[in-house]
Amino acid sequence: MKTLIIYASTYGYTEEMVNKMVVESNHNFDSINILKNKNIDLSKYENIVIGSCIYVGQINKELKKFMMIYHDALIKKNIGLFLACAFEDQFNTHLTNNFSQDIIDHSKILVNLGGKLQKEKLNFAHKVLVNMIEKTKEGKKPVKTFENRTLDIVNQFYRA
Ligand SMILES: Cc1cc2nc3c(=O)[nH]c(=O)nc-3n(C[C@H](O)[C@H](O)[C@H](O)COP(=O)(O)O)c2cc1C
Repeated sequence: MKTLIIYASTYGYTEEMVNKMVVESNHNFDSINILKNKNIDLSKYENIVIGSCIYVGQINKELKKFMMIYHDALIKKNIGLFLACAFEDQFNTHLTNNFSQDIIDHSKILVNLGGKLQKEKLNFAHKVLVNMIEKTKEGKKPVKTFENRTLDIVNQFYRA
């Protein structure tokens, strides 16, 4: 069964993780960046993996739009969801705030791949925002990357 990963990435970490999954699947997975290609034909694929980076609690708005338009088609497929969520404790909140409950319940796998704060690449507004978001009374929230978790997704869908 064929697998398609549909994703959004602003500064490249999510894309890096998607490319890693494509390689780990021996190129059996196809991938589409929703910010570059919105004409998506799901009919060739039984498995659809959907993922986004998180900015101020929100997945990318183009991906959100895609989820609404394709909801009925997606619910008939094997699906998996992942987020690039730098602050691990926020993962469940970000999932439930950004995806409908039936899509979450239908997903075979829900994975946080963590995130990277590439401060040298951020635009001014993002620099200001991220300084506010990561600040805590004690210092800074830890940013975590979970790059090895791509294998959980690949193993779930590689032979499915
Ligand atoms: C302005 C800004 C806001 C962010 N907001 C959140 C957030 O609310 N929750 C979170 O877990 N990570 C947050 N992050 C971290 C990103 O999700 C992380 O950097 C991710 O790796 C970005 O993926 P990308 O490189 O594919 O764009 C934020 C990062 C920036 C720059």
